Amino acid sequence: MINFPKNFLWGAAASAPQTEGHSLSNGKTASTWDEWYVQNPEKFQPGQGPATTSNVYELYADDVKRMQSIGMNSYRTSISWTRLLPDGKNVNPEAVSFYRDYFTKLNEAGVTPIINLFHFDMPWWLMEKGGWENRESVDAFGFYAKTAFELFGDLVQRWTTFNEPVVHIECGYLYGYHYPDVVDFKKAIQVGYHTLMAHVAAVEALKASNCEGQIGIILNISPTYARSESPEDQRAKEIADLLNGKSFLDPCALGTIPVGLKEVLADNDLLPITAENDSVRIANNTVDFLGLNYYQPRRVQAPENPQTPALTPADFYAPYDWPEKKMNIYRGWEIYPEAIYDMAMMIKDEYGNIPWYVAENGMGVANEERFLNEDGMIEDDYRIEFMQDHLQQLHNAIEKGSNCFGYHTWTFVDCWSWLNGYTNRYGFYRVDLDNNYARSMKKSGLWFKALSENNGFNK
Ligand code: BG6
Repeated sequence: MINFPKNFLWGAAASAPQTEGHSLSNGKTASTWDEWYVQNPEKFQPGQGPATTSNVYELYADDVKRMQSIGMNSYRTSISWTRLLPDGKNVNPEAVSFYRDYFTKLNEAGVTPIINLFHFDMPWWLMEKGGWENRESVDAFGFYAKTAFELFGDLVQRWTTFNEPVVHIECGYLYGYHYPDVVDFKKAIQVGYHTLMAHVAAVEALKASNCEGQIGIILNISPTYARSESPEDQRAKEIADLLNGKSFLDPCALGTIPVGLKEVLADNDLLPITAENDSVRIANNTVDFLGLNYYQPRRVQAPENPQTPALTPADFYAPYDWPEKKMNIYRGWEIYPEAIYDMAMMIKDEYGNIPWYVAENGMGVANEERFLNEDGMIEDDYRIEFMQDHLQQLHNAIEKGSNCFGYHTWTFVDCWSWLNGYTNRYGFYRVDLDNNYARSMKKSGLWFKALSENNGFNK
């Protein structure tokens, strides 16, 4: 039997834009996703826009009962910025009632809410002023955070500022997967810097409030592995780590800009515009804990014909196709549980053993209906095996002293995922899009119940 520490958090993660639905009603105004879908519906999975995601807005009370029934003792979701503050200034009373009741029901069911403030959903009213490109976004986010802490601080003990900040930066400003769909490395770095300062503004707001809760950030610092020990491949790995991992990890956890990052940016004319007091604010506002999302490792090699100065990250590192990799053939991502051990030990050894938890881990599967059995249950043994393998590695790291306090899977009910719509399913509960978002438990839900009740599992 593999046993986890006492009071370990067993739960799942999701976000407001991916689950709530009602994205242009009940007082909510558009985020970039709502507006982009109106402008460019062909970019999205056919018929799967952001307006009608898993309808948690109406179904949350029953969902909370479902969470309780499969033994979840914690759940992470986000607040929708444009539901709470439709114009950035005035509070939407319907949003307050909805979130207060949702968080109250979670607490009453023994499912501790971990509430995140930003999961890729930039308000359209702010995007029209430049979004994260504009320094005004820092104070706008600080005000939003302060408002959320005042309204819900009595119900939430753990807050997080951003989910995977690197993702909205690279997807919006380098790879064309998110609005505004531009490729501009310098802008991407500036957007990243303002995101970091917005995070700092939210940490300051929590400290200035009467809330007793703790604050953290959720990062996708997928461990990076180089093709070889050659200096070129090792340099590629180092820069990939600096840009994708340490760029947020160091300032958020240690209060410092990582050694080497400034030099790389300066050498490539990428340094962002900063304000005078920023470094002091960063140093004074480190987080209480980290959430780390892990799906697959990053494998890199030196690029063949890099441009100088670099035009995209591809001029620093190229993807390496490791011949021995094992694949999730249903999603197309590598499966490498060992990386969760490496990540856990890196946090222990290099980041002062700060408390952290696995904030997302899971296995996406396309066309999951193929695994429906005669009783209408999805038999997702592949997902159970995936999670057990990762938990085994996590347990090894905890035994060696890594300060991990929980494990959240992505996700509880199948949810909408940006341009991918409902293609990749991750939930413990299947959502039937043809039947009013009806939920039905998958086999992994039963497995999770046993996992949480036993605080571990049999090898
Ligand atoms: C995570 C994100 O990185 O990956 C989620 O935080 C996203 O928002 C999840 O839905 C799964 O992504 P995909 O592309 O497999 O649906």
